[in-house]
Amino acid sequence: MKQLKQYENKPKLYEKSTQKFWDDPYISKGMLEAHLNPDMEAATRREKFVINSVNWIDERIPSANYPKLLDLGCGPGIYAELFSNKGYQVTGFDLSKRSIDYAKTRAKEKKLEIQYVEGDYVSDDFGSGYDLITMIYCDFGVLSTDDRKTLLKKIHASLNDGGCFLFDVFTIEKYRGKKEYKEWSIEEQGFWREETSLILKSFYRYEAETTFLEQYIIINESGMECCNIWEHVFTLEEIERDLKEVGFHDISIYGDVAGKPYKKSGETICLIAKK
Ligand SMILES: C[S@@+](CC[C@H](N)C(=O)[O-])C[C@H]1O[C@@H](n2cnc3c(N)ncnc32)[C@H](O)[C@@H]1O
Repeated sequence: MKQLKQYENKPKLYEKSTQKFWDDPYISKGMLEAHLNPDMEAATRREKFVINSVNWIDERIPSANYPKLLDLGCGPGIYAELFSNKGYQVTGFDLSKRSIDYAKTRAKEKKLEIQYVEGDYVSDDFGSGYDLITMIYCDFGVLSTDDRKTLLKKIHASLNDGGCFLFDVFTIEKYRGKKEYKEWSIEEQGFWREETSLILKSFYRYEAETTFLEQYIIINESGMECCNIWEHVFTLEEIERDLKEVGFHDISIYGDVAGKPYKKSGETICLIAKK
C-alpha cells in the first residue's frame, strides 16, 4: 500500500493512467452496453440525436460529393451503419476490440460494406484518401496537447484536397461552477472490476480552468490501478487556431453535430474544417 502515497497530491498535467479504459476486457463490456442503450448519454448520445445528426451531416456534406468517410472512434458502429445507409463508403476505426468485433459481426449480418479497423488513432496508421473524417462526441478534448497536435496533422494528411474534418468539443460551460472534490465508494461487480473494490475518485481543475481530470484509483485484492480521464475544453478562438495551424481553412461553426446554431453560451462546438 506504499503506492497509495503517490496519489495524495494533484497529478501532473496529462499524467498517464496505469489502468486501460476503452480497451480493457472487463470495462469494455460495460461500455459496449452503454453504447447500445438508445436512451443513455454515456458512450454514445441518445438514438434520436444520432439519427438527426447523421441526417444533418448527409445534407451538409453529402455522400455524393464526399464519398469516402472515416469515422474515428466509431465504437460499435452506430454512426458508421447510418452513414453507410446514406451511401458513404465507410471505414470505422476504434481502439476497443470488443466494439470492433461487435461492429464487424453486425455489418456482416446486415450485409453492409463497412470496413472496421482496430487501432489507436494517435499512434497507428488509419489510411488516407478520405473525403470526410468524423470524430464525434468530443473525443478530441480527452487527448493531451501533444496528442491533439499529432492527431490533427494526421487527419489533415489523410484527407483528399477539399475534404472535410467534422468533430465536436466541449466548452467551459460543461464544467462551470464544478469544484474540486475527493470521494470514495465500494463497488461489488461494479463498473471497474468484477471483484469487490474500493474506488477513490477525485476531480481536479488545471491550466487556467480549461483542463480537468477525473481520477479513479481502484484498489482490491489483486492490487491497485489508476485511471486518469483528462478533458480539455475549448474556446472558439483556440480550436480555430489549432485547425489553421495544421493547414485547415474555411471553418464552419455550429452548436452541435446535428447542426444547431453556435452560441457562445453553449456546452459544445461542432466544427467542419476544409483541407
Ligand atoms: C465517447 S465514445 C464515442 C463513440 C462514437 N463516436 C459515438 O459517438 O457513438 C469514444 C470512442 O473512441 C474510442 N477511442 C478512444 N480513444 C481512442 C484512440 N486513441 N484510438 C481509437 N479509438 C479510440 C473508444 O473506444 C470509443 O469507442
